[in-house]
Amino acid sequence: MDSAAAARLATALEQAGIASRPVGVLDLDAFDANAQSLRDRMAPGAEHKPIRVASKSLRVRRAVERALGREGFAGVLAFTAAEALWLARGGVDDVVIGYPTADAESVRSIAEDEQARERIAFMADSPEHLRFLAGCTRDGAPLRVCLELDASFRLNSQRLLARLPGSLAVGALRSPCHTPESLEQLAREALAEPRLHLVGIMAYESQVAGVYDSGRSPRAAVIRAMQKASRREIAERRAEAVARVRALADLEFVNGGGTGSVESTSAEDAVTEVAAGSGLFAPGLFSRYRGFRPQPALHVAFDVVRRPSARVATVLGGGWIASGVPAADRLPAVEWPQGLSYARDEAAGEVQTPLSGEGASRLKLGDAVWFRHAKAGEVCERLNEVVVVSGNAVVDRWPTYRGEGKAFL
Ligand SMILES: Cc1ncc(COP(=O)(O)O)c(C=O)c1O
Repeated sequence: MDSAAAARLATALEQAGIASRPVGVLDLDAFDANAQSLRDRMAPGAEHKPIRVASKSLRVRRAVERALGREGFAGVLAFTAAEALWLARGGVDDVVIGYPTADAESVRSIAEDEQARERIAFMADSPEHLRFLAGCTRDGAPLRVCLELDASFRLNSQRLLARLPGSLAVGALRSPCHTPESLEQLAREALAEPRLHLVGIMAYESQVAGVYDSGRSPRAAVIRAMQKASRREIAERRAEAVARVRALADLEFVNGGGTGSVESTSAEDAVTEVAAGSGLFAPGLFSRYRGFRPQPALHVAFDVVRRPSARVATVLGGGWIASGVPAADRLPAVEWPQGLSYARDEAAGEVQTPLSGEGASRLKLGDAVWFRHAKAGEVCERLNEVVVVSGNAVVDRWPTYRGEGKAFL
């Protein structure tokens, strides 16, 4: 964030009489530009494929709706069954739950609500999931099901590394169905169950879409090489898995990818839609990809409440750490004033965060320090609303899921 952006947001808040902090501010112009940039990144020839909005990366219903209102965005990739039901009842007509559920109560509620049942697809990666879902529908009306193919990259399935012992997988541990054959077998089991209706396949290559690739370290170079090989491998394996299942059933969609892989995932013929969410808010971790540069859209300001020394300013709060392997990159980025750093022994604290550096010396009690969360949607579990700014003015205030009383996860 530069001084002009900080001044613009501060003026907008001041003019709207919004003085309490912490305050979350959504820069709507940046959000819209990011939505356009996600579309612009679709591979040549893939312009007709929609982007499914990953709601976990927003957790603000109005933001989800804003994305869905744009050309080229369709459907929601939800994260829990309860959320899916809430969204479907709220008017979203195409929801895929991107993760399996064990929430029988919500599944039953969906099964018993004809409209919700038609709008929502459940995720399954095992016969146990299929049995669980089928067991939740009483009157026999089929539940829509999507099967998940594991999209991780197995190093020792590559010829060069075939002699390595064990299985060296890179990517999220998700579905046990790694091979096209195993997905086909699962599809046969789904098709044999009359209480289920097989509608789609999803395969999320997290090691490409969710791992940033910039940097000059040897590690960064290894990541880039892994991602290049993984893109090639998943394209082949996904195509074969999809072909095998399509030979058995008409599929409505094949979903893949995420913000970090829009170009490569959308280029695959087998893929009919790409999922993305983080690219809209553009949190800290998503400024570290080489191939795209989204505009930071969601910012949080905290109050300076004390000055332990001339070069240190302490804000109230700040310790909103992102999920994942605990490491420095999970800390919020201090955006403004520039040149502030965390205290080594405290980092971002539960109720106070001391910040040192050149910029700290000019800060007074009650001044704002602007942060950007490392990930996209999690920060909204800490805020009741986001203040929406366009140009120099506050144009709206949107409740977060939490602000609507909906803490799903
Ligand atoms: C199944 C699935 N698809 C897509 C995504 C990509 O979301 P985003 O664009 O927010 O990185 C994720 C993120 O974790 C995911 O779990």
